[in-house]
Amino acid sequence: MKTIPIIIDTDPGVDDFFCIGIGCAFRELFDLRAITTIGGNNSTDVTTRNALDILKLFKRLDVPVAKGADSFLFEPFGEPVVRFHGTNGLGDVQLEHSQNTASALSACDMIYEQARQCNGELVLVTVGPETNLAHSFLKYPDLKGMIRKIVVMGGTLSTGNVSEYAEANIYHDAQAARIVFETGIPIDMIGLNVTRKAPLRRSIFDGLNDLDERIRDVMEKLIEFRNEESMHDAIAISSLVSDKVLIFKDAFTSIIDDYSEKRGMSVVDYEKAPNSRVAVDINVDEYYKVMRQMILLLSKR
Ligand code: RIB
Ligand code: CA
Repeated sequence: MKTIPIIIDTDPGVDDFFCIGIGCAFRELFDLRAITTIGGNNSTDVTTRNALDILKLFKRLDVPVAKGADSFLFEPFGEPVVRFHGTNGLGDVQLEHSQNTASALSACDMIYEQARQCNGELVLVTVGPETNLAHSFLKYPDLKGMIRKIVVMGGTLSTGNVSEYAEANIYHDAQAARIVFETGIPIDMIGLNVTRKAPLRRSIFDGLNDLDERIRDVMEKLIEFRNEESMHDAIAISSLVSDKVLIFKDAFTSIIDDYSEKRGMSVVDYEKAPNSRVAVDINVDEYYKVMRQMILLLSKR
């Protein structure tokens, strides 16, 4: 089977950890070309360090990490989101440090360079604010023609988590998200309306044997830190592992990027010619199956 070349653009991040886990584990499915980092949950220095250390834990030192922007397109980052990600961005769980350092390429340039090498096949999985992608599309106008699909954890068809209307990844850099949604590249939008339906509980380990105890320990601590709530970012990427995880509906999605109370809202219109597929429901058992496969695969190496 041909592998899917992917880049994960991420702000690790407790739930980002599990998303990267899936990207690392399914080696026969994914050709993980790079991790590109952005801040928001914490500084980009911290999220980049976290990405490097996560790759060490998952024994994927072969995957380059490219550091992204140090601010949103038009605003500085806010304070670290300690409540959801701890002071170190990873639920205050300490990982062993990697000796690897970030690539000489910026995230923006790494995305373009990998897209060039992948001949139109590259899939971007974006699970943080979309600042790096926006920078790439602004700097390289021909990039639009080189990306097969963008998988977005962001938006919501129900209520938001930073305001009644908006989900965090879109809200924090709504101008960037708007640029991405207006590229015309097919987008899968996986929002809070589906991710909230699939909490990740400690019972995910039930019946799994011969696990890598260090990985298990970190995962259990992160699940505990989040009080067994949803790991949003993992759900987005799991839709690439199994097309039974999410049910999508074609839609035209636009992003409100002004500073009104609706800033960051993902507005979905099912009547207009679609620019996206929006997730409308989730097969929770299928998602758990993917997560359990991930844990077993990561334990094998
Ligand atoms: O709204 C959920 C998103 O915001 C996730 O990507 C999570 O990591 C947080 O940053
Ligand atoms: Ca994230």
